[in-house]
Amino acid sequence: MQKKITIAIDGYSSCGKSTLAKALAKELEYIFIDSGAMYRGVTVYCLRNNLLPDGIPAVAEIETILGKIDLNFKFNPETKQADLYLNGENIEKLIRLPEVASNVSKIAALKNVRHKLVLEQRKMGNNGGIVMDGRDIGSVVFPAAELKLFITALPEIRAQRRYKELIEKQVETSYDEVLENLRERDYLDSTRTESPLIQTPDAIVIDTSDLTTEEQLNIALNYTLEKVQKL
Ligand code: CDP
Repeated sequence: MQKKITIAIDGYSSCGKSTLAKALAKELEYIFIDSGAMYRGVTVYCLRNNLLPDGIPAVAEIETILGKIDLNFKFNPETKQADLYLNGENIEKLIRLPEVASNVSKIAALKNVRHKLVLEQRKMGNNGGIVMDGRDIGSVVFPAAELKLFITALPEIRAQRRYKELIEKQVETSYDEVLENLRERDYLDSTRTESPLIQTPDAIVIDTSDLTTEEQLNIALNYTLEKVQKL
């Protein structure tokens, strides 16, 4: 049997990471974990419990309640995808709402939030055979991952893709709102002190601006096979 490796996929908002990670995991029969969904889950909890008054995280309070947040992925046989559960409640739809998108990067910048989620993410990937996407997967969560991909695309193309996705999910938004949110998150994610989004020197860059989802999958699959064959 072929050895199962760990694949870390990082990059800016809406560049195709999750789509690629999901497809790659399906093709390889690996586990797929969307680490961003977990940061979105913590944000849902904070919004509901008034821990973001006027959009500013109540840092000290958030630290004290982190133990009360239980996040789990469960397979949904209808959509054939894993849904995120917060303390037993399916929050898959809620985590994509614009209110969550516009607050998540503030929550993701908090040291203790990252500490908790990184520990949970490492546990999920203990045995390899995992594709995880996010911002710090190759740099912090799995620095020894056998394959690291860094995904990029032009901001306008990314915004167009995310806008289409949200409209299909019947989320009320506009292209301009999506583009602005994406630029703001890119800025916050790459300038924060705690595990900023960086391209590690050992990561392979894939620009998906002009690629179809099929083309990006084939490129990633080729890199994976190359790695696996060398083991
Ligand atoms: O899907 P999209 O790329 O827009 O975002 P996401 O993967 O759902 O992540 C939402 C936010 O969570 C990001 O903008 C980051 O602020 C944060 N995040 C992070 O800090 N570290 C990760 N490993 C994943 C997400």
